[in-house]
Amino acid sequence: MNYYPDDIIEEVRLNNDLVEVVSEYVRLEKKGGGYFGLCPFHSEKTPSFHVEPVKQLYYCFGCNNGGNVFHFIMNIENLTFPDALRFLADRAGIVLPEPDDKEEQQRIKVRKRILEINRVAARFFYSCLATGKGSEALKYLRNRGLSNSIIKRFGIGYAPNEWDLLSNYLLKEGFDETILIQSGLSIKNKYDRLIDRFRGRIMFPIFDIRGNIVAFGGRVIDDSLPKYINSPETPCYSKGRELFGMHIAKKSAEKKLLLVEGYMDVISLHQAGIDFAVAPLGTALTGMQGRLLKKYSDEIILAYDSDTAGQKATERGLEVLNNLGCRVKVLQIPDGKDPDDFIRKNGPEKFKMLIDRAISLLEYKIGLLKRMHPSDTEESRLDFLNGVADLLSELDNFMEREIIIRKISSDYNITEDALHAEVDRRLKKKRRREKTTEFYSAKKELTGSVRPLSVGKNEGARIRYEKMLLTLLCRENRLYQKVKDRYLPSDYSDDSLKEMAAALYDKLKTGDDFLLEEYISKLAPGMASSMIHLSKNLSNIEEPEKALEDILQKLEVLKLEEEKKDILMRLKNISNIEEKKQLQKQLQSVIRKMSNI
Ligand code: CTP
Ligand code: MN
Repeated sequence: MNYYPDDIIEEVRLNNDLVEVVSEYVRLEKKGGGYFGLCPFHSEKTPSFHVEPVKQLYYCFGCNNGGNVFHFIMNIENLTFPDALRFLADRAGIVLPEPDDKEEQQRIKVRKRILEINRVAARFFYSCLATGKGSEALKYLRNRGLSNSIIKRFGIGYAPNEWDLLSNYLLKEGFDETILIQSGLSIKNKYDRLIDRFRGRIMFPIFDIRGNIVAFGGRVIDDSLPKYINSPETPCYSKGRELFGMHIAKKSAEKKLLLVEGYMDVISLHQAGIDFAVAPLGTALTGMQGRLLKKYSDEIILAYDSDTAGQKATERGLEVLNNLGCRVKVLQIPDGKDPDDFIRKNGPEKFKMLIDRAISLLEYKIGLLKRMHPSDTEESRLDFLNGVADLLSELDNFMEREIIIRKISSDYNITEDALHAEVDRRLKKKRRREKTTEFYSAKKELTGSVRPLSVGKNEGARIRYEKMLLTLLCRENRLYQKVKDRYLPSDYSDDSLKEMAAALYDKLKTGDDFLLEEYISKLAPGMASSMIHLSKNLSNIEEPEKALEDILQKLEVLKLEEEKKDILMRLKNISNIEEKKQLQKQLQSVIRKMSNI
């Protein structure tokens, strides 16, 4: 795991405040000396995710996930340690040195090479569009109203309908077969022949936020299927991470982003002067895309198709964005059209009016409620009004609540007071519920955990105590003097613990302080979680010396018990008298030691 020197890792950790980093993903509330929020790693309704600002550690009392800022990023962005380190170094503006790890260097090289090959391929596609081979495609794009300048801005190209035109070109340009395949531009057919993935398709390069071409989407120029073929996931590309058009939209003067469904919608909107349109890449909006949207805008407007699939996508998008605490609005396009259709029929100005008329999340939800309960019967009218009261009690903006109450009570001919009273009742109930949760969270924190040591339920007692010993040493560095001769790194029962112990002992030997929060940086997420879990339990210990003595004794007994078991096993399988005697002697000594403890 030693890609980078320890001091660099520590510099990156110290320059990324955990509370700030977590806040980009989770809405945190200050409680006592720490922060609580809804855990992003499991689904829950009441907050059990805790961040300690002083220690720079997080821990979830619900799912036992815990660690420092590296584990948080590894878990939430689904990254390896080196990638999380790079991610956080970027965030803090720290330039990392070249890693000294061969594999890691290789991975970086492959990524660079894929970006290079993509750029060469994009240039190739672009030039094909201008030459005779692309005339059909160009005509198609013209028919759909695209100008030369928009084609250039998005780097749109054409992959001619031949088997291996691009592959041969790339080989000639000095790229080798491996990288052609790794980039997804070429595939091996069943006769083991190298052929182009994209053939006879209009090519849309997919740029990441920094302007690298990370993938391609290819559209047919007729009605054949599949309509689109996209690059596979590669070391440079994960479709849930990127947003089409984001590299341009992030530079828009508008502080909002318009989220649409398809490549063609984005392009058509940009041509119409709406340069803040982006699209996910053919999948439901992911949390990662949501965070990207949030980072680059104050307000996100969803403009999905108004067909059923579009409605579903809208609801899902609203949920993702709302959980992230984004300001969201919904733009409704009349007649089930998509933005591209609408602009071509009605012009850009009409579409801009739709943007101005986009409704709030609340209005959208009230609209859904209305459709669910048409007020044809008294009962359904009541269901609707109760639903509105539910929605209003979730809303934290008083003015917006007031406006809606006024409007609904006049539309539905009830008094404003009645609606107010219903909302208040729900609010009181909610507050009561929160008080109880607060109580339990505080209690859980005080007692360490409601389920002590549950992380290690299935692991051996010895490993559990060894982890406890390491954790205690991090907390109370001075105890090292008492440990160093009694339990050596080589005494630990598994290789990763041996390694961890060696690193910790080395550091403590020099008299340097070593904190748990620093120490766990390079531990795998599971190991880090369980160490933090233990540290929660150990934090209430009033006499660390006594605890240490207990732990060491337990470990000595466990170690001897294992030795005894081992000797008994060997005795069973041995016939040589001399050896047998020897082993029996050993057994005696182990038993004597045990009775001495
Ligand atoms: N998509 C895909 N694969 C498909 C169909 C769709 O990846 N077989 C993705 C593409 O990212 C596409 C988006 O889903 O842009 C929306 O699909 P659609 O509305 O069909 O595509 P448009 O881009 O609007 O294309 P067009 O207007 O040319 O039909
Ligand atoms: Mn379309």
